[in-house]
Amino acid sequence: MISIKKLNPKDIQQFFLWRDADFYVHNVLRREIIEHEEDKRVIFIALINLNIVGTAQFVAKHYDIELADGISTAYLQSLLVDTNYRRQGIGCQLIKTVEFEAVQRNFQRLTIMVESDNSPALNLYHKMGFTFFKNSKNRWRGMEYCVNCLEKSLV
Ligand SMILES: CC(C)(COP(=O)(O)OP(=O)(O)OC[C@H]1O[C@@H](n2cnc3c(N)ncnc32)[C@H](O)[C@@H]1OP(=O)(O)O)[C@@H](O)C(=O)NCCC(=O)NCCS
Repeated sequence: MISIKKLNPKDIQQFFLWRDADFYVHNVLRREIIEHEEDKRVIFIALINLNIVGTAQFVAKHYDIELADGISTAYLQSLLVDTNYRRQGIGCQLIKTVEFEAVQRNFQRLTIMVESDNSPALNLYHKMGFTFFKNSKNRWRGMEYCVNCLEKSLV
């Protein structure tokens, strides 16, 4: 039976292990956890039998205000499901959880960035009602790469 909850301090060690965080990822996660503690973002984890099997984040503000302006548009980040648990609806449930968080905070629009060759994620986002609105660039491990920005109205 799957459950989805907000990350709490007791989960952090397991979260790092599950993400198999190297130095770079570890630093990124540390910054994200600080923002989670400051309520600027919400890190959700999906659990089966107390084991983490997925994660997704609600982010209120992004440096690109078309992606999240802290007022009406929020951003869904870092959706990830354990390879052994894919195609069981966990990705869908994590997205619904982030959508619910955004609605609870009175946001009217949710956005996502996805690489144009990531068909599993693109299929999932289209199935969940997201549509393309612009091309952009994202940075990871010092590399810049092209992404599609998708949006969904929450009203
Ligand atoms: C993308 C990802 C989160 C999907 O998670 P998931 O739990 O497997 O997704 P779901 O089971 O909820 O899938 C729902 C729908 O998405 C689509 N989908 C998901 N995985 C797919 C795949 N491998 N191929 C094609 N369509 C896929 C299907 O339409 C699926 O519905 P169906 O199973 O009834 O056909 C997962 O593959 C993952 O973690 N990938 C690596 C990280 C990643 O790319 N994250 C997105 C970053 S933008």
